[in-house]
Amino acid sequence: MKPRVAIIGAGPSGLAQLRAFEAAEKQGLELPEIVCFEKQADWGGIWNYTWRTGLDEYGEPVHGSMYRYLWSNGPKEALEFADYSFEEHFGRPIPSYPPRAVLWDYIVGRVTKGNLRRFIRFRSPVRDVVYDEDNDKFTVTVRDLVNDHLYSEVFDYIVVASGHFSTPNVPEFPGLEKFPGRVLHAHDFRDAAEFAGKNVLCVGSSYSSEDIGTQCYKYGAKEITFSYRTRPMGFAFPAAFSEVPLLMKLEGKTAHFKDGTAKEVDAVILCTGYQHHFPFLPDDMRLKTNNRLWPLGLYKGVVWEKNPKLLYLGMQDQYYTFNMFDAQAWYARDVILGKAVLPPLEDMQADSKAYREREQSTANASEDIDFQCAYIRDLLGLSDYPDFKPEVMAEQFKEWKHHKEEDVLTYRHHSFPSVITGNMAPPLHTPWMDQKDDSLDSFLANH
Ligand SMILES: Cc1cc2nc3c(=O)[nH]c(=O)nc-3n(C[C@H](O)[C@H](O)[C@H](O)COP(=O)(O)OP(=O)(O)OC[C@H]3O[C@@H](n4cnc5c(N)ncnc54)[C@H](O)[C@@H]3O)c2cc1C
Ligand SMILES: NC(=O)c1ccc[n+]([C@@H]2O[C@H](COP(=O)([O-])OP(=O)(O)OC[C@H]3O[C@@H](n4cnc5c(N)ncnc54)[C@H](OP(=O)(O)O)[C@@H]3O)[C@@H](O)[C@H]2O)c1
Repeated sequence: MKPRVAIIGAGPSGLAQLRAFEAAEKQGLELPEIVCFEKQADWGGIWNYTWRTGLDEYGEPVHGSMYRYLWSNGPKEALEFADYSFEEHFGRPIPSYPPRAVLWDYIVGRVTKGNLRRFIRFRSPVRDVVYDEDNDKFTVTVRDLVNDHLYSEVFDYIVVASGHFSTPNVPEFPGLEKFPGRVLHAHDFRDAAEFAGKNVLCVGSSYSSEDIGTQCYKYGAKEITFSYRTRPMGFAFPAAFSEVPLLMKLEGKTAHFKDGTAKEVDAVILCTGYQHHFPFLPDDMRLKTNNRLWPLGLYKGVVWEKNPKLLYLGMQDQYYTFNMFDAQAWYARDVILGKAVLPPLEDMQADSKAYREREQSTANASEDIDFQCAYIRDLLGLSDYPDFKPEVMAEQFKEWKHHKEEDVLTYRHHSFPSVITGNMAPPLHTPWMDQKDDSLDSFLANH
């Protein structure tokens, strides 16, 4: 009987796994039996936009954290698939910073071409995974939401590709319970237009805070205040923006900060990050980590060291995204097919420890980028995923950082050459701040 592989999630990571198996099939290799379980009605993970927040129509927690008017926050050239360029998908070069719908189209274009939907059971959240040492197999329990039916099946391998930017980290601040305005986490933010004319407080000093704050400003918010716990972002924001230390309490509409200053605000958006959350896994198979470049317990960032039949994709904090997930998925595939031989547990742990030490020794974003680049270089040596020159992309990331420091409202005007095709991206036809329509049709019509 063929071995059975369960992939949990059909976002960019789970789809990378399906694509990796497709590539092996094209080389004449015999595939295991593959089932990809996806909780949502469609594929693409958090790129599959939903207006819903809280619970969905079946009472499931809504996975989506993306909002209307979201544009890529990094150059697309640095996330391009090695085996499917943007140009191949769109038939021509497009600008470096596309809106969400364009990236969703690109992600699903590759897997549509390969007819990979046939492997996916949609509306099928995995509820439970149990490993049986006696027969070395996993029993996976799944809810078929459409038919309201709970069932279990047995698998030889599990690939966890359920993402980690979906379950919000929601701290408490005194006075929030009586705040006379909107309070929400970034996970539930959908439409910046709601905040037109308002003074918005964004708690947090990372990507969500910066992007949601600038979106609100773009769609008419009066003032944006960023409150940081560790350090300010330090960008040269326009006068309507300010950065203040951590929020201490709210008294009515007045927010008090750690430096003794206070400000009246109309809405509080908690841009305080996400939790790695795997309610379907038992403790001994569950990755427990904060959002960082090197979570411990995963050999080469992929293989669960204590049980190598369990694999994880995309669990690191991310500079590189889609092409890193691919490099991981190709390696995971080879572990499953027996093409990649794993060292003994102690050697795997020593390798991970060395990575962790190197991660801890990085001093700035530039070194973090080099760290993730070196990791991908290591992965590329372990499978036949095409070499997409992560070192060139690392330089693109550093340039992107520099552009943001120059002007956080215009960094999306820059163009980069594709590492895959060599062609330069055309410029954005309208300044990003003036481009309010983020639809696929409008973007493609204008470029
Ligand atoms: C607001 C926001 C904006 C971002 N913008 C960018 C960007 O501009 N560029 C970039 O490169 N990256 C961006 N990212 C990073 C993003 O994490 C990756 O691009 C990518 O989506 C990660 O893919 P993934 O498949 O690992 O996870 P996800 O995209 O989260 O997909 C996981 C999938 O697993 C499914 N799932 C979860 N639990 C279960 C279960 N129990 N059973 C079955 N299915 C399940 C979910 O429904 C989902 O479809 C952004 C992230 C956020 C939160
Ligand atoms: N347009 C886009 O493409 C876009 C937009 C938004 C997000 N994203 C992506 O989404 C992912 C997640 O980004 P993120 O910003 O949500 O998460 P994140 O990068 O993990 O940052 C979390 C932030 O929350 C702060 N925080 C956590 N707990 C806190 C507390 N108790 N009090 C105050 N502050 C607290 C952290 O502060 P410390 O520094 O003190 O820890 C940090 O600033 C990233 O990959 C990003 O690229 C992309």
